[in-house]
Amino acid sequence: MHRLFPLFRRETMSLLRTKPINADYLNGSDLRPVLSAFDLTLLGIGAIIGAGIFVLTGIAAATQAGPAVVLSFVLAGLACAFAALAYAELAAAVGGCGSAYGYAYAGLGEVIAWVIGWDLILEYGVATAAVSIGWSGYAANAFAAVGLPLPETLLHAPGEGGLFNLPAMVIILVLGILLGIGVHASARFNAAIVFVKLLAIGIFIVVALPNVDARHWQPFLPFGWEGVAQGAAMVFFAYIGFDAVSTAAEEARNPQRDLPIGILASLAVCTLVYILVAGLLTGIVPYPSLNVASPVAEALLRIGHQWASALVAAGAIAGLTSVMLVLYYGLSRVFLAMSRDGLLPPVFAEVNPRTGTPLRVILMAGALMAAIAGLTPIAEVAQLVNIGTLAAFVVVCAGVIFMRRSHPGMPRPFRIPFSPLTPLLGIGFCLYLMLNLSVVTWLRFAIWMGLGLAVYFWYSRSHSSLTRAS
Ligand code: ALA
Repeated sequence: MHRLFPLFRRETMSLLRTKPINADYLNGSDLRPVLSAFDLTLLGIGAIIGAGIFVLTGIAAATQAGPAVVLSFVLAGLACAFAALAYAELAAAVGGCGSAYGYAYAGLGEVIAWVIGWDLILEYGVATAAVSIGWSGYAANAFAAVGLPLPETLLHAPGEGGLFNLPAMVIILVLGILLGIGVHASARFNAAIVFVKLLAIGIFIVVALPNVDARHWQPFLPFGWEGVAQGAAMVFFAYIGFDAVSTAAEEARNPQRDLPIGILASLAVCTLVYILVAGLLTGIVPYPSLNVASPVAEALLRIGHQWASALVAAGAIAGLTSVMLVLYYGLSRVFLAMSRDGLLPPVFAEVNPRTGTPLRVILMAGALMAAIAGLTPIAEVAQLVNIGTLAAFVVVCAGVIFMRRSHPGMPRPFRIPFSPLTPLLGIGFCLYLMLNLSVVTWLRFAIWMGLGLAVYFWYSRSHSSLTRAS
């Protein structure tokens, strides 16, 4: 055993090895630091408000929580608030564009970083596919409204009685081409979309408010607390995206001050909007009628407001497009960060000299996401994203506690209040939501993670730039 021990120790140490803090800052960046705290908040809202509120609220209300879906939003929002505080501390202290992957690499060791990176690929990749399915629902309604209805078989995955979801596949491929030729959401373009999105929600609120019939809120808890918790695990999807703010660290003017503001402010605005919209939606129509592809627009139609419905649908389509753009872009960023560190083959870090973008990764990921979007039903897909993201949040919260001990002297421009209680609460809330996801989602997640570990031990560990440097 004593002969094995040094070997064991070496192996353990290599698993725990970390990248120096702020390595990405020190390496310098070609990106220009232009984003203000306000821009970062808009970036967050641009990435957050999408299919969660425009589609899943309806499904969760009709099938899981009833009118108490409002409470589901509060519960999921609480879990996110704790995680957002943890993100804010690490984003300000550690920096880098790899988001949770980068923090894990700096503080928790390579293998955890790998797990998180692999997890983020799932989050951004599958979320893009899931949002495209929501986009398809709203786009199909818009086509139908102008007299060009698409055949039902081209709007649904095989499991839902169709052949494939054509609009979902097409929008992903179009965005892939746009990202591939170097079009990525500029701060101004994003601000415009956020304005349209918030305007659509504003219109909904103004029209819905006088049409609320309190009888629709009775019974308030048709599926009990269990339904609320399961609904929260589903609508958690609506909050995903605030973490994408942290990937803009290298483009922020004053990242230490502004990243925490961007993360926390965008989450606060969205939480407020969600609670309002969910309350009104279940107040204007009976909740069982909300299990449709575009519930917010359809609810307005049902109460006789055709114009408002069309405007909301247009806003939803714009909003869902921006969410997909940011998530898809985030996906290529994570691939880039991981292959720059040698954990993924260099082909993923290859930048096309003509377009200046990682074209190959973008197109390959696009083809894969289009296949997922075309062939799987949204609720199941969304659950897989949620479990992956919740797991990443757990690690980020744990990272705060761990790094307070391992790097006590590290400058922390933003400190999470009442640590370790707050990050522990974050871990507790996220685990609780994870436990409310289905067994089959856990199984799929376990398979994905198992696959990830196999890739790590088979390829990444020996090709890592830290291995090559040692
Ligand atoms: N939060 C994003 C959405 O709801 C992913 O579309």
